[in-house]
Amino acid sequence: MELVFVTGNIYKLREIQHLLGKDFKLKSLRDLGFEDEIPEIHPTLEQNAFAKASFIHDRFSVDCFADDTGLEVEILNNRPGVYSARFAEIDSDRKFKNSSELTEANIDKLLGMLKEKHSRKARFRTVISLILKGEEFLFEGISEGRITEEKRGEEGFGYDPVFVPEGYEKTFAEMTLGEKNKISHRARAFERLVDFLRSRKDLYTK
Ligand code: IMP
Repeated sequence: MELVFVTGNIYKLREIQHLLGKDFKLKSLRDLGFEDEIPEIHPTLEQNAFAKASFIHDRFSVDCFADDTGLEVEILNNRPGVYSARFAEIDSDRKFKNSSELTEANIDKLLGMLKEKHSRKARFRTVISLILKGEEFLFEGISEGRITEEKRGEEGFGYDPVFVPEGYEKTFAEMTLGEKNKISHRARAFERLVDFLRSRKDLYTK
């Protein structure tokens, strides 16, 4: 079965293809000849994921899925949430030279907002919107944890250096990719997608 993964990230695509196995052939946006950005302008992860998937479904009439992830900090009313990627740009005129400068600024802003706060409880949440035969299915994966006082570790990306998952002392950035993938929000959400696709072959084999 062929499915389009609505992402420009070839690494994510390979990772999920590996999880899905040979029964499924994942196609990228590039395989469709689509190279534009799809704007992520909605206030929730669910709406953003659905907007991306439905945009591609409407344009190409293909079965497809899209994901969206955010870091939700309880005492900040679940911010940065849907704005995680560009948190430091919100309410600021500052321009960033590259994505690593933006990532640093995102983390600095977060740590600044958490100074003096009594709770550092946080979670990563990934949402996947699958559109299969015109019907939408949603999947969620959560990794509970807390935000550290300082950055630790060199692995990973984004907020990994300041996130310690529940039951661990290490930050995600101090873990190997293999360790992180056993417990990560994204891995959990994709496991649910994969279980669903395996269990509902009736939906796409006729
Ligand atoms: P995306 O929806 O996967 O592009 O994630 C949006 C933003 O959330 C990223 O730009 C990162 O700032 C943050 N993020 C998502 N997943 C992770 C993760 O596993 N570790 C750290 N930060 C993440």
